[in-house]
Amino acid sequence: MEVIIKASYDEISKEAGRMVRKALLKKPNLVLGLATGSTPIGLYNELVCMHKEEGLDFSQVVTFNLDEYVGIPASHPESYHTFMERHLFSKVNVPTSNTHIPQNTTRNLEKFCEWYEQQIREVGGIDLQILGIGVNGHIGFNEPSSSLGSRTRIKTLAPSTLKVHTRDFGGDLDTVPKMAITMGVGTIMEAKQCLLLASGKSKAQAIARCVEGPITAEVPASALQMHPKAVILIDEEAASQLKRIDYYKWGYENKLRLEADSL
Ligand code: GLP
Repeated sequence: MEVIIKASYDEISKEAGRMVRKALLKKPNLVLGLATGSTPIGLYNELVCMHKEEGLDFSQVVTFNLDEYVGIPASHPESYHTFMERHLFSKVNVPTSNTHIPQNTTRNLEKFCEWYEQQIREVGGIDLQILGIGVNGHIGFNEPSSSLGSRTRIKTLAPSTLKVHTRDFGGDLDTVPKMAITMGVGTIMEAKQCLLLASGKSKAQAIARCVEGPITAEVPASALQMHPKAVILIDEEAASQLKRIDYYKWGYENKLRLEADSL
């Protein structure tokens, strides 16, 4: 697990942008796992800028979103379909047919989940999975107590998640969808690389539990400790409850020095 601590939200967005660009230049048909929530918006803005200013090409990229609410149509202003269209898909040249977001209106949800997993397998798996983290340690919508081997399925949202999400639904808890389709922790763990982003004090406890706590279904993000290539890219506030901040910073400085020397 590599922990990278940057000064601010802008800095983590820029660094995440650089990482995605590097992966994309290396593999133009990159299979990119995408996340929603407020945290990755800065990264998506960076990618849009790189597309407009440098011609970063998304024409062969294939995307899979982590999750989607159940019970609201894709056209709902707060659906993750709308979110992705608004922040990324309408602004870069990724073909619509290459993008995948769980279908919240499908009749046979169980069959759909199997199909989603199969689509991921058919393109050879996810190369780089972008993740945010919930204040309760969830990734995707894998709430505390989710099996660490879980696959794409329906989950009921935890009360703490519903509370946070009321901000997106006009402050009205009753209108927040109570269920979602989400890739499982096991699905996420099969991505070749994971990049988890977090910013702000409200994420500090979840980050400390994810990085330095025990691996437990109580904190689904802690499963990333078992991932061979997971990067935790956070700002100072989100890092504020970590015990080994100095070590992570020192490790990152040494890595940069090594990279500069080998140029
Ligand atoms: C939702 C999403 C997660 C996301 C989380 C954090 O629960 N399903 O994928 O990581 O929100 O959102 P934010 O970045 O807004 O804090």
